[in-house]
Amino acid sequence: MSAISRRLFLGSSAAATGAALTTAVPLTAAASAGEPKAPAYGPAPGVAKLNANENPYGPSPGAIKEALEATRLGAYYVGASVPMLKSMIAERHGVTPDHVALSSGSSGALTYIATAAADKGSILGPDLFWDTTARMGTRHSGDLIRLPKHETLSIDLDAMFDAITDDVSLVQVTNPNNPTGEALDGEALRAFCKKASRKVTVLVDEAYNELTENPEYTSMVDLVREGYDIIIARTFSKIYGMAGMRVGYTIAAPEVTKSMVLDYGLGDYAMNQAGVAAAVASYNDLGFLEMSKSRIIEARGMVLDGLSKTGLSALPSSTNFMFVNLGDLDAEIFRQKMADRNVLIRGIYRDYDNWSRVSMGRLEHVQMYVDALAPVLEEMGA
Ligand SMILES: Cc1ncc(COP(=O)(O)O)c(C=O)c1O
Repeated sequence: MSAISRRLFLGSSAAATGAALTTAVPLTAAASAGEPKAPAYGPAPGVAKLNANENPYGPSPGAIKEALEATRLGAYYVGASVPMLKSMIAERHGVTPDHVALSSGSSGALTYIATAAADKGSILGPDLFWDTTARMGTRHSGDLIRLPKHETLSIDLDAMFDAITDDVSLVQVTNPNNPTGEALDGEALRAFCKKASRKVTVLVDEAYNELTENPEYTSMVDLVREGYDIIIARTFSKIYGMAGMRVGYTIAAPEVTKSMVLDYGLGDYAMNQAGVAAAVASYNDLGFLEMSKSRIIEARGMVLDGLSKTGLSALPSSTNFMFVNLGDLDAEIFRQKMADRNVLIRGIYRDYDNWSRVSMGRLEHVQMYVDALAPVLEEMGA
């Protein structure tokens, strides 16, 4: 890499001193402390990967078949499947295909939205939410303003409305929220979105919407249809079991969608043929979706049972993960001790030291988590 191109990305001082050259960059992503090394694809056999809210029952058989066919024809840039997928999404939600943008996972679009918002001001979000893209967007400009901690770990919509100042260019709500698993009441969120979006764009990240009790009621897509300044983000990574295939989408006013496409390269050509093929094949595969949802609900029951037997509890969850209250135990030590038993879960979020997130993976893997609870807690002196 030339000094000039390094300067473009690193800033002049790092490029001038050659600091980047002395930094060792591992070729494979390092596992968290104590975690077993992973093979190139997916977790190693015998490892319960419960740390990223994936649906390991996916992709659906139909999705795999279509992705293979698309891969066979992978010499060609993506074609008719992209407008096909957009039309399917539009039809389901009662919008036009011009309301729909596809991206590489929903993270793709969410990052562009955050970057655009940060250029204009600050992003306002709860204290605890899936903030990866908001943090990324505000690395270079703008700030991420967080609401104060809420004692129930819920999102206080009144406090959020009151926190909208002239500097705020985007309000971000994750519903259901990650890592808490809470789904806000649809009507309460709808009322908030209506009044907040008169002041500023509201982004509702609905990555886990399909897992809620009443997805339509919980979703804010109807407000986009009604013309409110709202962007909805959805993904094929969660219930569709396609996290590695990187397909997500947004639903927003056509002019917002067009600007995302033109300004941030969310054009059809940017999509991955195999991922789009899999998305088309699984979007209306109700059998697969129902099977996945029922196993996730079963897994939540198993975790709740296991926790109550060991004296622990979790927040109610409308998602494929649970946020477990470890009392006075440290969530990072708990994570490491679980990893020692080949059970991979999330460590500490921000300063929520005693909260631990576990994903609802395959039932046999969830059983590994449940079985490990008592011995791990004993080791930790609980
Ligand atoms: C709430 C939420 N939004 C978005 C994402 C990003 O997912 P993807 O980029 O795979 O669509 C995640 C991933 O965990 C998430 O939890």
